[in-house]
Amino acid sequence: MSRVITYGTFDLLHYGHIRLLERAKQLGDYLIVGVTSDDFDRRRGKINTHQSLMERMAAVRALGIADEIIVEEYVGQKIDDIKRYNIDIFTVGSDWVGQFDYLKEYCTVIYLPRTEGVSSSDIRAKKADLKIAVLGNSGIGKKFAKECEYVNGVQRVEKMEESDAIYITSLPDKHYKDIRQALLEGKHVICESPIATKAEQVKELFTLARNQKLVLMDGLKPAYSTAYARLLVLIKSGAIGDVVSVDSVCTSIADEKVAQGEIAGKWNSICAWGPTAMLPIFQILGTNYTDRHIVSRFIDEEKKFDGFTKIDFVYPEAVASIKVAKAAKSEGSLVITGTKGYVYVPAPWWKMDYFEIRYENAENNKRYFYQLDGEGIRYEIVAFSKTIETGKDFSYVSEEVSVAIAEIIEMCMR
Ligand code: CTP
Repeated sequence: MSRVITYGTFDLLHYGHIRLLERAKQLGDYLIVGVTSDDFDRRRGKINTHQSLMERMAAVRALGIADEIIVEEYVGQKIDDIKRYNIDIFTVGSDWVGQFDYLKEYCTVIYLPRTEGVSSSDIRAKKADLKIAVLGNSGIGKKFAKECEYVNGVQRVEKMEESDAIYITSLPDKHYKDIRQALLEGKHVICESPIATKAEQVKELFTLARNQKLVLMDGLKPAYSTAYARLLVLIKSGAIGDVVSVDSVCTSIADEKVAQGEIAGKWNSICAWGPTAMLPIFQILGTNYTDRHIVSRFIDEEKKFDGFTKIDFVYPEAVASIKVAKAAKSEGSLVITGTKGYVYVPAPWWKMDYFEIRYENAENNKRYFYQLDGEGIRYEIVAFSKTIETGKDFSYVSEEVSVAIAEIIEMCMR
């Protein structure tokens, strides 16, 4: 009996896939189909598949062509599978010609002609086509516009009138007005954090979005990095015991003019860095701190433009601190202290693709590496467009956290 194996994502199953599977089956007596896991796809940069692993596997199973379906989870797994399942023939479409010749050492490799004129990418692109316009003239706005090009089903447009959704990166004290107007005009909104500089305004905007049946998302990109998301679940599952302290530092003095006192049109330190620095604190310890102590060094005290701010938070069983600065430099690391060990994320932690869990006995230390494309902006755009398309919430920053961030900013700028 000859055994055949093939692999693919099989997102939004189409006749190109079906023809491939039918021909693969005809090559032998028993067909195994490897479907890529969501994580594996994400790691190799395929970030906006529309269906989950379960849905994609169910679609392949429903065809009744495969004798067995397995999950492909890591680079190099094909070699292991070929040995483990006693495979005689490995096959894929001709778009991969040459790329799997290294498997010839283990079995026969056959590239089947790809069906012309259809692909999951094309179907995804035709499906949604969410038109996003960028409001605000910051460097991050340019990066956001560029990242839209990497997400299928999202198109960046110049004019607000032509858009379904708006990415807002105007000055923080303009956010409230800009978001409100966009929502009233029927546009979905993703706003560079903070959503507003007053907690009540943030609550009002989320309520307005709900009433308008529109999506309002806090554009806090570190929340969308895979490494950060994994770090959170590892902590929640007790990897370092009870968390007793979260210490988060975010500084940059890239904008020298700010340090020299030219602040017109600039974000102060607490708005530029506060949301990022506070994110892990509120997501790990919650937003019900019992006390907080804020100390700022101002560049312009009257305008409440801080060059450096340190905040200490007190919780019933833990403490936390942030240091943020646009006119001072420090080690931009994130350290989460637990009763069994600690998490260390090296600077710049907000571009997280790696972290370590360290223990008293260094032999138990673990290192975790993940892919990070487009500083997290790309994943954030995917989450935003999926939330709009499906009506399910793919946001990684809750309203409660957005409100808590604004509360602190309000205190700093009072
Ligand atoms: N395939 C094919 N003909 C097509 C599309 C896919 O023969 N028109 C084959 C691929 O060569 C591969 C398998 O189907 O062997 C699974 O492909 P997959 O990457 O899941 O599908 P694509 O449509 O190519 O997906 P994407 O556009 O996301 O790359």
